[in-house]
Amino acid sequence: METKVIRIDPQRIDDNVIGDAARLIAAGELVAFPTETVYGLGADALRAEAAAKIYAAKGRPSDNPLIVHIAEPEDLARVAVDVPPQAKALADAFWPGPLTMILNKKPEVPDATTGGLDTVAVRMPDHPVALALIKKSGCLIAAPSANASGRPSPTEAAHVQQDLSGRIAMILDGGAVGIGIESTIVDLTGEVPMILRPGCITEDMLAEVLGAVATDPGILSDSGGGRPKAPGMKYRHYAPKARLSIVEGPAGAVLAKINELADEARSAGRRVAVIAADETAEAYRAEVVLRIGSRSDEAGIAQRLYRILRECDELQVSEIYSESFQTPQLGTAIMNRLLKAAGHTVIRVKG
Ligand code: TXA
Ligand code: MG
Repeated sequence: METKVIRIDPQRIDDNVIGDAARLIAAGELVAFPTETVYGLGADALRAEAAAKIYAAKGRPSDNPLIVHIAEPEDLARVAVDVPPQAKALADAFWPGPLTMILNKKPEVPDATTGGLDTVAVRMPDHPVALALIKKSGCLIAAPSANASGRPSPTEAAHVQQDLSGRIAMILDGGAVGIGIESTIVDLTGEVPMILRPGCITEDMLAEVLGAVATDPGILSDSGGGRPKAPGMKYRHYAPKARLSIVEGPAGAVLAKINELADEARSAGRRVAVIAADETAEAYRAEVVLRIGSRSDEAGIAQRLYRILRECDELQVSEIYSESFQTPQLGTAIMNRLLKAAGHTVIRVKG
């Protein structure tokens, strides 16, 4: 299949372009589109055959459920039942925005969308192209991140093209996304709301609205040995082809250790890349140093992370050493993704 790539200006949406994309969704085809977090791969959420195409295009395991994207908070009632008052409070506080809620599903939502679960993931994205597409199609849109399964999530249309060209009907290219890591997922079906995936809506922000909130212990375990509740969190995601290790400790000691490891690798004939903050980037002796931005700009670090992991593949290095980015607000989300990319390989150094 030929994949059409169409540019669309999020500030001045072209109705004809949205109309074409919406018709494809309504006809059960796949369209990739920008959201504020990452690009999504959309299909009609309430049609099993349409949702099933997503798994085939991505090579995604069929037990890994999709997020249903809605354009009005009221649409929640079309897919969820027993909606607790906390859901309304969270929607008021954070929608449209990078928060996904897990709720009990209505029978109308097909197993293909929920991976056979009795619950459904729902979010209202904060992006004019995503909202226009949902409204115009008249559908609710199931959309995982628009990467091939196992690759870093796409933050630009070109990343979607790299992974899915020839497998989907259309890519709406609305430019680079703003946030760069996927939405926070909170499960509201248990006694205490539980964070299943950290994102830029932090635990503190949720606690302010909900009072009590817990984090799934399965995603916090440093070894990666836990059993996460969101099926997708158990897969080794975001993985670059080269071996990635995170070096953690006081800045000076990290620098010395990475330089030592880079020297060793070089003398063994291996190419090395280092992922570093602007503050330390110039002090590394490696073939390639990828600057992720200043430590004082954590939103920038989140926004560039996946692009940098993709660059590592293009550079054909065999070892990647990364600094740790445990920043104040977004650090939990950033390190969750980086640790997964590293397969939880962490080298700890002392000052
Ligand atoms: O920011 C985002 O959330 C992006 C954009 C496109 O909206 N989407 C996204 O989708 O990250 P995906 O499929 O890459 O990640 C969805 C995650 C998976 O880990 C999946 O297992 C989990 O949500 N999930 C979906 N439905 C669930 C459910 N009913 N219970 C528990 N986890 C669920
Ligand atoms: Mg994904």
